[in-house]
Formats: sequence, structure tokens, C-alpha cells
Amino acid sequence: MSSFWTDTISRLTPYVPGEQRSGADIVKLNTNENPYPPSPSVLQAIQGVSGDQLRRYPDPESVVLRQTLADYHGLSIENVFVGNGSDEILALAFLAYFTNNKALQFPDISYSFYPVYCELYGIEAKTIELDADYSVNLERFDTHAGGIVFPNPNAPTAKDVSLSSIEALLSRHTEQVVLVDEAYADLGAQSVVKLVGQYPNLLVSQTFSKGRSLAGMRLGVAFGDASLIEGLQRVKNSFNSYPVDALAQAAGIASINDESYYRQTMNTIIQTREHSILELKARGFDVLPSAANFVFVRVPNDYCEGGAAGVFKKLSDAGVLVRYWAKPRLDEWLRISIGTPSDMQKLMNTLDA
Ligand SMILES: Cc1ncc(COP(=O)(O)O)c(C=O)c1O
Repeated sequence: MSSFWTDTISRLTPYVPGEQRSGADIVKLNTNENPYPPSPSVLQAIQGVSGDQLRRYPDPESVVLRQTLADYHGLSIENVFVGNGSDEILALAFLAYFTNNKALQFPDISYSFYPVYCELYGIEAKTIELDADYSVNLERFDTHAGGIVFPNPNAPTAKDVSLSSIEALLSRHTEQVVLVDEAYADLGAQSVVKLVGQYPNLLVSQTFSKGRSLAGMRLGVAFGDASLIEGLQRVKNSFNSYPVDALAQAAGIASINDESYYRQTMNTIIQTREHSILELKARGFDVLPSAANFVFVRVPNDYCEGGAAGVFKKLSDAGVLVRYWAKPRLDEWLRISIGTPSDMQKLMNTLDA
């Protein structure tokens, strides 16, 4: 605390990322990172960036990367925006579309960065309760309130909603921006990128951090109507003209161009996920169906002393990191990222011990 801080900064409760502990024996299942490295062609592209490219500023508009993403999705470059991770894109989007004095709506159990941005910008937050089975129910959103943001699949529950239910939402809420956060859409959920062009109020954000193994690079992308994308560009160019560096641009292009490596990695993670769900259920845990690279697991009260918090602590002491929130409706649950089969076996062995 400092007397030099503004009132806004003094009252903020910043987002707390998962612990980044490292070491040969650590099994890291707490930040939904991809357990596999990026494609060899991505590493080659990064190494291929020259001294001259690093000496200069990068292309501020990331034209080749945006065109590559546009071609991949059958869109035009005016429909594509890239940023320094999708968190940055969310931050720019909140400023561009949601600071208009109407409450922003998002699920009550959801990505914990949304309320942080609301506090930062002074946006009123209106949380929409999940159904009893932890599903996002899009019919509960209010057509008279402000914009809407939700992850699909949701985090930390891993449950997805269907493309048709999002389409129905877009038709009901034509006066509000609907931001669909598809950080985990690589792993089975139906992406709504194909609806861009039909709905001028739809913005879709995605990331290279999960399915594309580039969390350390910081690269995110948004797709939307050209006028929405222009709004993001106006904010970006009033804040930081060069958010995506030369290495990230090269890595992103190479990643999109190696479809077979990406598909293979996704299939492996999905297989490991389904096997891990069976293993966890066999040990007495409730596990929600997952369309993501993590699972949401309820610890029965009589499982061990301290319930979910106790399991979290014992796992952490043994070097197996998962995520736990001491919050109402979350405090009986653990969020466990899907690692390699060997990571998951270490998790099961530690639980058994
Ligand atoms: C739902 C959701 N959205 C967005 C992000 C941000 O991802 P990144 O900034 O790495 O692109 C995350 C990260 O975990 C997330 O869980």
C-alpha cells in the first residue's frame, strides 16, 4: 500500500495465477498448460528469426499472422485481431465494448479474470447463476443488461454449451456484444468462429497457450465483424502499438501451418482425459464431463481429512500441483489439468498413497 496509489489501484484485487513451481520431480497440473512442446516447425521458425528482425520493431499489424489465421478459418484479415495472450485481448475488449454504464453479464462460476477487469475499469458485474449441475444456462442472461462474456467450455467446470444455444443467444441479444472466450475450444467444444459474418455482435477469443503449446510465448487471437475488430485496434493503438513480438508472430504462423501435429496432440490429450476421468471415478471422485484440457473433480467429504483442501495440500507436499479455490460452491472441488499419461499415473499413485 502506498499513498501514491490512486483510489482505483488501492481497491483492486488482482488476479492470482497458478503457482509456477518447477523441478524435475514436479507434476504440474495446475495452470492448464499443454504437456507437450510446440511442433518442431514452430521451434524452427522461432530460431529462424534473424538479428535484423529483432533489431527492428515487429509488424504492428501482424499482417502475415492475421492473414494466415483468416485463411485457416475462411475469413478476411479485417475479421482477425491478435494480441499478447488472450488475457490482453479480453482486457482490450472490456475497454472497447463494456464500459458503457450497463452491467456486464457472466456466469457466477467462471474465469476469475472477468471480475478483475470489471473492477479495473469500474464496470458493474452481473453474475448469472449456473444450473444445479454446474452448466452455463444461456437462457438466464438478461436482454436488458449490458454485454455478455463466458468461456466455452467454461472454466473451471470444463462443461461446454452447444453451438445452437449460442446462436439462439446471439439472436436474442442483438443489441449487446457477446464475447465467447474459446481458450479451451481446441478439445471438443463446438467453436462459433464459423458464425462470424452472420452476427455483427459476436466476438470470439482464442489462445495459442493451450492447444498450441505456446503459453510461454503469449499469443491470443480474436475473430469478429470488421467494425468490432476496428474497435479493438483503436484501443490497442492507444495503449501499445506492438503487443505481438517478432518471435510470437513467427511461432503463430508456423503453428497454424502444422495442422497434423496440432490434431495429433489434441487427440492424445483427449484420450488421456477420458482415461483419467475413469481412473478418478474409480477412486470415488465425482468428475464433471470435460470438453477441455482439465477436469473438475469433487472430493467426497469422507475422502480424507480436510476434504478437497486436504487433498490439495497433500498433493502439493508430494510435488503434484493442482488448483483449489477456498470459495463457496468451489471449495469441495479440485481443477486438475491433463498432463501426459505418465503425469496422470503419478497423480493416481500419489492419491493412492
Ligand atoms: C477461460 C480463460 N480465458 C483466457 C485465458 C487466458 O489465456 P492466455 O492469456 O494465455 O491466452 C485463460 C487462461 O488460463 C482462461 O482460462
